[in-house]
Parts: sequence; structure tokens; C-alpha cells
Amino acid sequence: MKRKVLSTILAVSMVAAMVVGCGGGGSATTEAPAADAEAPAADASGDAAQAEAPAPVAADKEGGRVAVAMPTQSSERWIKDGGNMKEKLEAMGYEVDLQYAEDDPQAQVSQIENMIAAGADCLVIAAVDSGALTTVEAQAKTAGIPIIAYDRLLMDTDAVSYYASFDNEGVGTAIGEYIKTAKDLDAAKEAGESYTIEFFMGSPDDNNAVLLHKGVMSVLEKYLKDGKLVCKSGRTSFEDTCILRWSQETAQQNCENYLTGFYADEDLDIACTAFDGFAYGVKAALQGAGYTAENWPLVTGQDAELMACKNILDGTQTASIFKDTGLLADKCVTMVEAVMKGAEPEINDTETYNNNVVVVPSYLCTPVAVDKDNLVEVVVDSGYYQAADLGL
Ligand code: GAL
Repeated sequence: MKRKVLSTILAVSMVAAMVVGCGGGGSATTEAPAADAEAPAADASGDAAQAEAPAPVAADKEGGRVAVAMPTQSSERWIKDGGNMKEKLEAMGYEVDLQYAEDDPQAQVSQIENMIAAGADCLVIAAVDSGALTTVEAQAKTAGIPIIAYDRLLMDTDAVSYYASFDNEGVGTAIGEYIKTAKDLDAAKEAGESYTIEFFMGSPDDNNAVLLHKGVMSVLEKYLKDGKLVCKSGRTSFEDTCILRWSQETAQQNCENYLTGFYADEDLDIACTAFDGFAYGVKAALQGAGYTAENWPLVTGQDAELMACKNILDGTQTASIFKDTGLLADKCVTMVEAVMKGAEPEINDTETYNNNVVVVPSYLCTPVAVDKDNLVEVVVDSGYYQAADLGL
């Protein structure tokens, strides 16, 4: 590996200045991510405060207007999610108002206000920052409009009827298990070997990110403790590794700073990232630092985006977590049907997703780890992607 010749003191002070908490990379923000990150995870099994009135159920009606508020078009997965929802709902005779907030919490508030004003009969929301939505959610409840949380739990509200998602702690566990198995960490223990690792975790305003970190650490913490995994930056906590709004640019900048500050004399062996977008940022940082196939680290991700799958095939990303957005949309659509027609949607979890006000009845789909060995079987043979999409 071509190493950067930089004063360690300069590099370390740069890292200290630039990799700060969740925003990292020196990106100024008026928000307080560290404080957000300290909010209790919503999987606590403690009692949820009682909601004053049950979340609304729309009157039994044919057709109707479903408004779908999605967070951003900056990553492929949400474009696919929005497209799936629109297609499936329209096929069932609903009119669909699909909007993306481009990761701007206030823009999402305005969009939802407009959806309510335009006569939505049901709201499906994948929040940018669910903390920003409580007032508009209360307005929807007052107007008798049911809300379904899509993939990201809506926190601190009693206006949400159902939640469709994946087992979010399970995503983290799958990432941790992948690293453990791929590096054979138990054998490393016996052989007295160790691997360097850095963490790139999700947005502090997204409950999924908290749960994912918990899952990762449920597997890897013991190896960090016994020295088989060495995090040279010392940044392993959620507060220290979370990246506001899942920013690819911040992930790249954090990785550049880590490589410069802590890996001038030793390779980074593992980049444990929580999102394919982070893996793209890490890839760019690694290339910039002169890493090649010879010393490329194990890089994880989440979502099995098309680009991530291509990177897995060419070796610049090692693994991702496949979350079938078609299945998620199917489950969410049954919830829309339920609140619109008084039907019973399929639910498989009534305990885990406490949003600090209510425990939201949920359907959790199962995430699947993919790497070059099972990629074709999982994403092509299932029809999720065409072989040609992946250049196969
Ligand atoms: C999370 C979701 C991930 C990923 C991330 C960034 O809420 O669980 O799958 O998509 O957002 O978009």
C-alpha cells in the first residue's frame, strides 16, 4: 500500500478536529446529533405511556387517496421503495400521492401538511427525522387520517397504527456475524491474531440506526474487548460513529480522516458500515489512500443496492444486507388495506417497537447477508435484479 507521508501529530489533530460525533467530517449542523443519539432506543421493553385515543382507522371505503412520504431520492433504495408502493397501491385502485423530502425534515413536514390538506385518506411515512413530525402526525390523527410507519419507526407519537420494516437489530447482528465468520475471529483468538476495524453507523435521528449498532455490538463487542478486533480511532460507540442523515460524503470524509490519522503504518482490515452509501464513500477513501486488491479491507453495507452488488462482484465491497423492498411494500400495502377497510393486516411483532408512547404493531421482514458467494442466488435467481443489470 502506498502510504501517505504526513506528520502523525498533524494527522491526529486533523482527525480530532474533523471527525466529531455524528456529523463527522466537519460538516456544520445546527442540530444536536450527539444529544439525539442519547435518546433511548425504542426497543426498550419498558411500559409505553398510554395513548389518549387509539390511532384512527379510516371508514370502510372503496379506493381512496394514499399519500406516501419518502425521505430521499439520493439513494437507489428509496426510489425503489416509492416506486413499489405506488405501483402496488395503484393496482389496487388507490390514488397515490408520492413525495420525496430530499433529507430535509422541514420539507417533509410541509409535504405531509399538504397531503393532509389535499384530502389523504391514509399516510405512509418513511421519516427523514421522525422527531420533526410529531405535530403534523397529531394533525393527521385529529383529521382521522391513519398513519403507517414505513421502514423507519415514527417515534414519540400515538398517531401511528402499524409499522412495516425489517428486523433492524437483526440487520446489525447479521453484519457482526458476517465479520466474525469471514475473519474467523474465534480462530484468531487461538492464533493470537488481530484485525483492525473502523465503524460507520447510521443517522442518530433514525431508530433503525440505534438498533443496528446494538446488533453489531452484540456480536463484535467481545472481540473488541479481548483485542482480536482493534479499533485504532477508539470510536466504537454509537454516539462516536453515527453519521447524520446517512451521508455518503461524511462517511468518505470520516474514512479519509481515519486512514490519515490512524492507519499510516498499518492497513485497515475491516470497515464495518451500516449502509451501502457508506460503503461507496469508504471505497472512494480507500482508493484515494492507495489501497488495492492486495490489501483491500472487508467492507460491509446494507440494502444490496444495484451499485453495491456490482461492487461485491468486483471486490470493492465485501458484503451487504439484502432487504427485499418488494416484500416490504407488500406488507405495507396490507396495512393500508387494513386501515382503509377495517381488515386485519398480518403482524408478527407486538412487543419490540416501543416508540416512547405506544408499542406499534409491526411486521418485520427478515434481512439476508449477501456476498459474492450467494449474491446471484439471492438477488438474481429471485428476480429482484436481472442478471444483465449486474453485467452477468
Ligand atoms: C435506514 C434503513 C436502511 C438504509 C438507511 C439509509 O432507515 O433501515 O436500510 O436504507 O435508512 O437510507
